[in-house]
Amino acid sequence: MYNLLKGKKGIIFGALDENSIAWKVAERAHEEGATFVLTNAQVASRFGTIDELAAKTGSQVIPADATSVEDIQNLVDKSMEILGGKIDFVLHSIGMSVNVRKGNHYTTQNYEYTKIGWDVSAVSFHKVMGVLYKSNAMNEWGSIVALTYMAAQRVFPDYNDMADNKAYLESIARSFGYFFGRDHKVRVNTISQSPTLTTAGKGVKGIDGFLNYAEKMSPLGNATALECADYTISLFSDLTKKVTLQNLFHDGGFSNMGISQEVMSLFMDKEEE
Ligand SMILES: NC(=O)c1ccc[n+]([C@@H]2O[C@H](COP(=O)([O-])OP(=O)(O)OC[C@H]3O[C@@H](n4cnc5c(N)ncnc54)[C@H](O)[C@@H]3O)[C@@H](O)[C@H]2O)c1
Repeated sequence: MYNLLKGKKGIIFGALDENSIAWKVAERAHEEGATFVLTNAQVASRFGTIDELAAKTGSQVIPADATSVEDIQNLVDKSMEILGGKIDFVLHSIGMSVNVRKGNHYTTQNYEYTKIGWDVSAVSFHKVMGVLYKSNAMNEWGSIVALTYMAAQRVFPDYNDMADNKAYLESIARSFGYFFGRDHKVRVNTISQSPTLTTAGKGVKGIDGFLNYAEKMSPLGNATALECADYTISLFSDLTKKVTLQNLFHDGGFSNMGISQEVMSLFMDKEEE
């Protein structure tokens, strides 16, 4: 590997199991020489396999509900104690929609559920940055990344209210990123990842269709969770110091495609092909 994160300290949210994008980021960050704290919601830490990842990467786990400012404050304070100083990188890899879980259609949402999903998937990013900013917990030239999906810009009907949550999340990255950049020289970006078979991914109705369609549309094919982790590591490294306020597509080219010949051929009359 490249020692890209040698000596850097981080906090990684959202590793649930070995399919999680955050899990791959933790493994790659460890390989690149970083030390970090792992965190997830209390129940996920209990039922998931995060302890396995912690043992493998020499990390400690501090549970935190990402919607609770109190939990996040405790996490940040303890992380600085454990890691012996300020933080260089943070991954927000969190998403959940109660409407999706309950099978509610986008047009007939339960708005109490909408609020919960919005808080978990989008506002939690503001809360995390709010605590880091107020506590002056980030080192200069640090990097904060959240994961998002292209349904923030374009219509994917079954992505439901998560599309709105992702649009909000991306906006928070820009708005908070301005203050973090100006005041602490910290960069804030979102990575817009291809559909990926994780627990969250499998929750999206018709994920197989998403995956196959995106695969056929993308000149480089879908990006895997491990490839997403590699890209994330580059954003945590010193090689991307002036990249900030960006929503960065990591999708094999999907986002700039109109149509591919492979997809086109599915709609052509036999004689025309
Ligand atoms: N899988 C995909 O197709 C895909 C595509 C683009 C973006 N993303 C995004 O990537 C991120 C990671 O998802 P994933 O695909 O690795 O799935 P995942 O299910 O492995 O990860 C989602 C994580 O969110 C955590 N979480 C939920 N509620 C929480 C709370 N209140 N506090 C703290 N943590 C909480 C879960 O415990 C879980 O670890 C999400 O933001 C997701 O929207 C996923």
